[in-house]
Amino acid sequence: MASEEKPLVVVTCTAPVNIAVIKYWGKRDEDLVLPINSSLSVTLHQDQLKTTTTAAISKDFTEDRIWLNGREEDVGQPRLQACLREIRRLARKRRSTGDEDPPPLSLSYKVHIASVNNFPTAAGLASSAAGYACLAYALARVYGVDSDLSEVARRGSGSACRSLYGGFVEWQMGERADGKDSVARQVAPESHWPELRVLILVVSAERKLMGSTAGMRTSVETSPLLRFRAEAVVPGRMAEMTHCVRERDFQGFGRLTMKDSNQFHATCLDTFPPISYLSDISRRIVRLVHCFNAHHGQTKVAYTFDAGPNAVVFTLDDTVPEFVAAVRHCFPPESNGDKFLKGLPVRPASLSDELRAALDMDPTPGGVKYIIATQVGPGPQTLDDPHAHLLGPDGLPKPAA
Ligand code: DP6
Repeated sequence: MASEEKPLVVVTCTAPVNIAVIKYWGKRDEDLVLPINSSLSVTLHQDQLKTTTTAAISKDFTEDRIWLNGREEDVGQPRLQACLREIRRLARKRRSTGDEDPPPLSLSYKVHIASVNNFPTAAGLASSAAGYACLAYALARVYGVDSDLSEVARRGSGSACRSLYGGFVEWQMGERADGKDSVARQVAPESHWPELRVLILVVSAERKLMGSTAGMRTSVETSPLLRFRAEAVVPGRMAEMTHCVRERDFQGFGRLTMKDSNQFHATCLDTFPPISYLSDISRRIVRLVHCFNAHHGQTKVAYTFDAGPNAVVFTLDDTVPEFVAAVRHCFPPESNGDKFLKGLPVRPASLSDELRAALDMDPTPGGVKYIIATQVGPGPQTLDDPHAHLLGPDGLPKPAA
């Protein structure tokens, strides 16, 4: 039976967080969300970090509505409106060129959306990327769209288009003025590099001071270094990073990840007035990583920082226990010793006297609040279990949602 004849069509999807190792910073078109350079990211596993979104359409709904983490939010928000417009345009296009005509009624149906994160929003953990990717994916399912969703997700938040795929993902900047070639593509699937691990060092769970959108706008307007980066540095780095991923070359991958993060933060400092996302603790983590690598005589761990002070550290599975012990040594947990480590289990390890001496840092108690241990993961999923729906049969959030 065609979906439009059902009283309520409801789907629930999940989508992952991604962390860029070649950063996106700066738009050439604010409206279409087109970047000034390509970027490349690693999709994190949804067992640890994910957004879950339910979308429902019904002829009985009188307006579009959205609830985030249980609270109703303004559906008129421009980015959300852009995503809704775009998905309905794609649905109309598909129907008019395809097999189904006349256009189904469902296209005119209003939508109810409910979305939750299993991690703190706006803690600098790229919640908007998972959120808009999940929104695009769920809307596509409910309106019957199966075309490329890069544009829909991108209109919500640029980095969101990279959360549409698992594994290692590039967002090609594209050249066209209409943005049709500004799309996300998978570089390698999640199974490609099974030893790769990701440790998120949560430094502060507070809301960030300057959002990415406003920050990058000021950088585009004022930073000559950013322009140089986009034109002369990133193209070569995209090729090099793709090669490192394909070859599973951790040394090359790690070094380039750190350099690109550092250059992104240098462009922030080159912005006028300057922007600084890193805190003293972030800088201590940078030092810790370099001391750790120097001690081992090779790149064993690599940091990257987005628009906030939390560090995301890449390493291989055999290095995780020792590095976690080093973090504990430098940032002794204050009261939550047992909850310091979340996510994948980590074998306890002790630090050698040599490494302890090499770290050469006075401990900062409580500097790192907790660590989330995770790995590379798959792209968005559709949940078949009706219990997973965040909206009830009346189209309103279930009490627990
Ligand atoms: C530093 O995608 O949040 O995390 O497109 O304005 O929503 P908007 O920006 P957003 O920027 C992400 C910036 C970054 C780097 C990255 O993820 O590539």
